[in-house]
Amino acid sequence: MITPAIEVSGLTKTFRTYKKQPGFSGAVSGLFRRKYEQTVAVKDVSFAIQPGELVGFLGPNGAGKTTTLKMLAGLLYPTSGTARVLGYVPWERDDGYRRQFALLLGQKNQLWWDLPARESLELNAKIYGIPPATLERTVAEMSELLAVRDKLNVSVRELSLGERTKMELIASLLHQPKVLFLDEPTIGLDVVSQKIVREFLREHNEKQKTTILLTSHYMTDIQELCERVIIIDHGKIFFDGRLSDVVDRFADSKLITIQCEGAARFSGEKLGKYGEVVAQSPGSLQLKVKRDRVIPVCKALLDDLPVSDIDIQEVPIEEVIRRIFAR
Ligand SMILES: Nc1ncnc2c1ncn2[C@@H]1O[C@H](COP(=O)(O)OP(=O)(O)OP(=O)(O)O)[C@@H](O)[C@H]1O
Ligand SMILES: [Mg+2]
Repeated sequence: MITPAIEVSGLTKTFRTYKKQPGFSGAVSGLFRRKYEQTVAVKDVSFAIQPGELVGFLGPNGAGKTTTLKMLAGLLYPTSGTARVLGYVPWERDDGYRRQFALLLGQKNQLWWDLPARESLELNAKIYGIPPATLERTVAEMSELLAVRDKLNVSVRELSLGERTKMELIASLLHQPKVLFLDEPTIGLDVVSQKIVREFLREHNEKQKTTILLTSHYMTDIQELCERVIIIDHGKIFFDGRLSDVVDRFADSKLITIQCEGAARFSGEKLGKYGEVVAQSPGSLQLKVKRDRVIPVCKALLDDLPVSDIDIQEVPIEEVIRRIFAR
């Protein structure tokens, strides 16, 4: 049996936050007796990720994704539970561990603002003791792939958000980490840059066999990169399995599309008995129908209407995830 690259068991993080009382008297009484609130950000989370896997970590805002990644990167101590990444306990901050993982926070900045990107990368390389020749080769290769080669001499402050994120990505990969935690690496990027970053990550994962745990609110990222997803909600794991199984498990409807002359003329009232009308045009009709009703509805449609073609599809994964988040 292979040892998992990441192994998490019962991981829990509770934040204690000071709750301000409203008004002046509240502020005064707060001086004497502070009221604290407990936020359970991560609750009894367990999972294992095998070496080389690229797993999507999904969940609505505030679900506990960043908190989990920060614990795995050793930036936060858990309240309870255990984790091992490459055999290390992250929050013990062993130097051996530091050299083997990287955390990229798409919302935050880790480069030196006043320096040209190249120098900032050189500083990063010095910290990890990367030989200049290796640095030169890696930076040339990655900046080419990410289409920022001509930006290396621009100071970080003057880079666009997308260019900066790409430089951050290069910086985080300089020491060739075996495990990569990516927290919204494509946030705020235009569609072209998102695609470039995605393809870069896919290739990196395939070639280097890097284990990657990735969060993103863009379903395209997840669909294109991750076979497996872990969905977390209110700090707890809600689903862990194949992305394709999410649809099977959680989509309660399918889409039926029919080609049918005069489709635009049918009233909603008449169509309501088949399902929810999603789209209606002169020659076609799309209905959302509960899974267990698909066969009888198809039969009825064929019997009742002048149908020339019929097609049954799954509801888009994006919509399924949206519904899970909205529960
Ligand atoms: N330092 C902190 N102090 C107090 N509460 C915190 C702290 N960091 C996070 N939290 C709370 O913990 C919960 C989980 O936050 P977290 O940042 O992990 O969510 P997330 O899944 O990354 O969300 P998003 O998709 O918005 O990035 C939230 O309720 C948040 O308010
Ligand atoms: Mg987050």
